[in-house]
Amino acid sequence: MARVEPLTIAVPKGRILKVLAPLFARAGVDTEPLLADDRRLVRATADGRIRFVFLKPDDVPMYVEYGAADVGVSGRDTLLERRVDLYTPLDLGIGRCQLVVAAPEGRGIPAVPRIATKFPRIAAAHFAKKGVQAEVITLHGSVEIAPLVGLADAIVDLVETGATLRENHLDVREVVAEVSTLFIANRAAYKLRADAIRPLVDALRAVVGGGAAAIKAV
Ligand code: PRP
Repeated sequence: MARVEPLTIAVPKGRILKVLAPLFARAGVDTEPLLADDRRLVRATADGRIRFVFLKPDDVPMYVEYGAADVGVSGRDTLLERRVDLYTPLDLGIGRCQLVVAAPEGRGIPAVPRIATKFPRIAAAHFAKKGVQAEVITLHGSVEIAPLVGLADAIVDLVETGATLRENHLDVREVVAEVSTLFIANRAAYKLRADAIRPLVDALRAVVGGGAAAIKAV
């Protein structure tokens, strides 16, 4: 019998793995490679049917879109920012947070604001839709500092518990998007590897409930 190529699953390195692993385990996936505490960036299950590749969260959609991974796991925020062309068959219901506009407490946002963010495309689209000509400054982290030191009037960033905003005396002015973690699939692989992908999606759906998660344009 011909050897079956492993299904390649792109997963984000970091804290989401701890939540993802039990979910995959309940769907019948061998999650030993997901939880291994080492520096290997590619790890296969013992039966060789699944190969996990561990990536920076921002890079997951690229690997899946180009077919280097058949499927993957990615935040809706990343998918919206990257404008990717892939299937999103399932919302995994984890990693829930909001993408918001926030500004220093008690301070107004000017008519032509300067906005600091890790999500320049989403931020620009959000303000353009409102007819506001915002100047968007792209940062790579700790965005909350920007309005505190005069780099920006407001930020577009993720809020989960709200602790970071609170402790830096910022408050939410608008919700831009609801965010959660989605199961994504390469369009061609979704058809060509349907034998492996469909049962996995069905098993995950049975665990998390819910249906297809459309990536709405911002
Ligand atoms: C994210 C986000 C906020 C914070 C929100 O940052 O950009 O800063 O978490 O979480 P909270 O509402 O629970 O406080 P992350 O920790 O990923 O670090 P970064 O800012 O360096 O990207």
